Amino acid sequence: MDRLVITGCKPLEGEARVSGAKNATLPILAACLLTDESCLVRNVPHLHDVTTSIALLSGMGVRVTLSDGMGVEVDASAVDNVHAPYDLVKTMRASILVLGPLVARFGEAEVSLPGGCAIGSRPVNLHIDGLTAMGADIRVENGYIRARAGRLKGARIVLETVTVTGTENLMMAATLAEGTTVIENAAREPEVVDLAHFLNRMGARVQGAGSDTLVIEGAKRLHGTDYEVMPDRIETGTYLVAGAITGGRVTLKNVRHGTLDAVLAKLEEAGAGLAYGEHSITLDMRGRRPRAVDIRTAPYPAFPTDMQAQFMALNTVAEGASTMIETVFENRYMHVQELERMGADIRVQGNVAVVRGVERLTGAPVMATDLRASAGLVLGALVAEGETEVDRIYHIDRGYECIEEKLGQLGARIRRIPE
Ligand code: EPZ
Repeated sequence: MDRLVITGCKPLEGEARVSGAKNATLPILAACLLTDESCLVRNVPHLHDVTTSIALLSGMGVRVTLSDGMGVEVDASAVDNVHAPYDLVKTMRASILVLGPLVARFGEAEVSLPGGCAIGSRPVNLHIDGLTAMGADIRVENGYIRARAGRLKGARIVLETVTVTGTENLMMAATLAEGTTVIENAAREPEVVDLAHFLNRMGARVQGAGSDTLVIEGAKRLHGTDYEVMPDRIETGTYLVAGAITGGRVTLKNVRHGTLDAVLAKLEEAGAGLAYGEHSITLDMRGRRPRAVDIRTAPYPAFPTDMQAQFMALNTVAEGASTMIETVFENRYMHVQELERMGADIRVQGNVAVVRGVERLTGAPVMATDLRASAGLVLGALVAEGETEVDRIYHIDRGYECIEEKLGQLGARIRRIPE
């Protein structure tokens, strides 16, 4: 398995470009199943999860061709099976996003249960309950979700928990249902809004995206379109923290303002100066040590759980103590024991972590366990004294395009050791 070797203690300076959003690309690629016309999806990040999605769609008979730059042409006119196999789904839970589109367009689907992952049990009961409410007959057997339906019918669905991919699956399914679907307590994440924009460009009628109530008028069919995926707000936040933790000055280009305000507010609270260009953000820490900031994760627009590990790294070297509360996933502190190996002072009790800032972290061999935990370890390594080796970085490659090139552009001393 590839490893990253990082030599810390150097303030980052320079510019890097943010890639397309992984968590908008994955549902948008799945949404291409809703039409027999070709769709061109642009600004697609080159990530392992995107490669997995393409393999999943191709296995169904979808023609996927990479077009110039970061474009992907998707043609689902010749789908010959509705099967999402375990060996692919187990590597990427977001494969569940083909369920709604398959049932809506083909009246059937056979999708492996995603199973849990390092950060939690990750159930999909709300996806299944919502499709059942729309008239699908769903059985879960032998580790697979087997769905059958005539034309889905619009329904009023109240989600008991805010679920991002659950909202996305049901919104996609509703675009071809007969009548109107109302989804209450819907996720408000910017990636959900990006998907809604894509669907409406395909001729769907989705209203309320970005609010907690979606109203979708079903259509008989959708048509192809050409769409540019939004920039990745979590990648943006991660590189801003890289600038903050090293006391440096970084500028990120191709940023979508208004998608990570809760993160920016916490960076300012930590003492960072922020300046805004039309599509850029510059963070300047002016060589200062960050101040400790309390964090409580929650669904958008609150502080994103996908930025928790990154801010824990920042807090480990901050001035003062901080309390971090993870309310979305039950086991999203896998990075704690690895940061402790670097000298961090963290106490975890249930979903609460108390972090006491230390003067310095020290480099150590550490192991990545999940995508955002790995990002937290890389950030710790950037500020640690000496050399850190981050193992199992396939986790990172799932969600960060060319991480060593981008951090290298910002002056980090980082190299990949292929295994
Ligand atoms: C999406 O996961 C993201 N993934 C995650 O990003 C992100 O951390 C998460 O939303 C929260 O923002 C993609 O968009 C591909 P949820 P998702 O359903 O949709 C419970 C990353 O790092 N729940 O919003 O799987 C669930 O257990 C990844 O890029 C049910 O109980 O998360 C959790 O406690 C990690 N039943 C809560 O809802 C369900 O049917 C939120 O999960 C579905 C979810």
